[in-house]
Amino acid sequence: MPQPHILMCSPKHFDIVYEINPWMSRQRRANPVLAMEQWRALEQMLLECGAKISLVAPQPDLPDLVFTANAAIVFQNTAVLAHFRHSQRQGEEQHFAARLGEAGFQVQTLPRTDLFFEGAGDALFCGDTLFAGYRMRSDALAHQLIGEMLGVRVLPLELIDPYYYHLDTCFCPLTPDAALIYPPAFDTYGRRVLRESISQLIEVLPEEARRFACNAVVVGRTVITNVGCPKLHASLRESGFEPRETPLEEFMKAGGSAKCLTLRLDGEDAANWKAGLS
Ligand code: ARG
Repeated sequence: MPQPHILMCSPKHFDIVYEINPWMSRQRRANPVLAMEQWRALEQMLLECGAKISLVAPQPDLPDLVFTANAAIVFQNTAVLAHFRHSQRQGEEQHFAARLGEAGFQVQTLPRTDLFFEGAGDALFCGDTLFAGYRMRSDALAHQLIGEMLGVRVLPLELIDPYYYHLDTCFCPLTPDAALIYPPAFDTYGRRVLRESISQLIEVLPEEARRFACNAVVVGRTVITNVGCPKLHASLRESGFEPRETPLEEFMKAGGSAKCLTLRLDGEDAANWKAGLS
């Protein structure tokens, strides 16, 4: 297995100072010491899994920069940069662009500035298909344009529950034909599309979806989630995966968890296309 390469950002400036999703409340600010501890533990676990970690420098006044999943979608040596729906996060774009450029990616932006797109938070490869969540943050048309830019098949999925506003909060590819899913976050049609295109879907229960069970980082057969997802961990073990947990409650206050804090630069393990890379 080629060494997994992950982009992260230290939570030095992480906090809850605005509210752009239902998880966030300025009444529940972050505990900076605890956030740093939890982030470091996740980083440590990824290092133990053999990952290489690259960092983007934290910036004052950009508390959500820590959620690097939203930076871009990475495909081979191209990174299509995010354009955030909320003005509070738009300042992150230039920092992600610079860092991805420095990492050697050809950084592209969407051809239209009136469309929003929130990176790997909303666009995830399972096999060679790009599953793309829209409505809450990313626009369906943005996903279509990305499909054309990258020359890949896109399956758009409407997200209907504001608590599951990014695709990576309710869907997580594990291998080219297996994924985690929280069905109530999708409409009937989206659920059907997922069932018809992915042969093994592991369903997450509401109480564990609320613990961000679907927001998992997959490294080979290891699946890392927040604490408090015992039923999912049992199903994962039954299916031959190795679940691991680490506390990420500080980041839940912002509406994020393990996966949001990472961006795979070498391609997700569930994507087929990386097999074509040298
Ligand atoms: N507070 C951030 C936002 O609302 C959280 C982002 C979580 N990222 C993710 N990939 N789900 O944008």
